[in-house]
Amino acid sequence: MNIILMGLPGAGKGTQAEKIVDKYHIPHISTGDMFRAAIADGTELGLKAKSYMDKGELVPDDVTEGIVSDRLSAADTDKGYLLDGFPRTIDQAVALEKITADLDKPIDGVIDIEVDPKILVDRLSGRYICAKCGATYHKLYHPTKVPGVCDRCGSHEFYQREDDKPATVKKRLEVNMKMNAPLIDFYKDRNLLYRIDGDQAIDQVFASIDEILQKFSK
Ligand code: AP5
Ligand code: MG
Ligand code: ZN
Repeated sequence: MNIILMGLPGAGKGTQAEKIVDKYHIPHISTGDMFRAAIADGTELGLKAKSYMDKGELVPDDVTEGIVSDRLSAADTDKGYLLDGFPRTIDQAVALEKITADLDKPIDGVIDIEVDPKILVDRLSGRYICAKCGATYHKLYHPTKVPGVCDRCGSHEFYQREDDKPATVKKRLEVNMKMNAPLIDFYKDRNLLYRIDGDQAIDQVFASIDEILQKFSK
């Protein structure tokens, strides 16, 4: 199954992706994670992406489309993939249609996790991430079971994202909200869109998503 996860910053894309991957074993392709890895490795791509991410702006379409095209060409996506945070512009959506058609890996469904933007600042300011396995937590809404120990891998090291500072969060929300509506229409027109209420407990959001995924996994 070939799936896109959409949603504003903090909607829960990464959190739900973890659960989807654990159940369906398809590769999780997050453009944000790929850019952060490139920044950590100090590559040219990382340098380019950092200047935009630090400001809460979108990385240019040609850069982003290039890394997705390369990633989807890898054989591990032959049996399915989960895109998280791509596409974010109409240009990217059009490019993705061409990429997936050329590779014969068409999109089965687009899941939009919808959350009232008012609560997103709260979600992002309380987020912390396992430095070893990338699992995502929240100080209040989703703490580790044992304080200071990752549920998934047992690591004791966590970090907060650079772009979760209040000023950057505000800009990220602004930028993404502007881009969101046209993208929703794009996928609605193609009969691919599924809307999920993301303002429920994490397990309930997953149950709603899983109902849709079960259709595609047959
Ligand atoms: P990216 O890393 O994708 O960031 P984002 O879109 O801003 O989304 P987040 O990762 O912040 O949120 P999420 O939806 O994954 O939420 P999470 O599950 O962590 O992109 C970063 C940057 O890279 C962009 O700003 C841009 O510069 C660049 N970029 C990436 N893709 C690009 C593209 N296609 N084009 C151009 N530029 C691109 O959850 C958030 C918090 O809430 C966590 O603490 C979690 O525990 C908690 N939480 C989750 N679900 C719930 C729930 N149901 N109830 C309560 N708490 C919850
Ligand atoms: Mg994420
Ligand atoms: Zn971990």
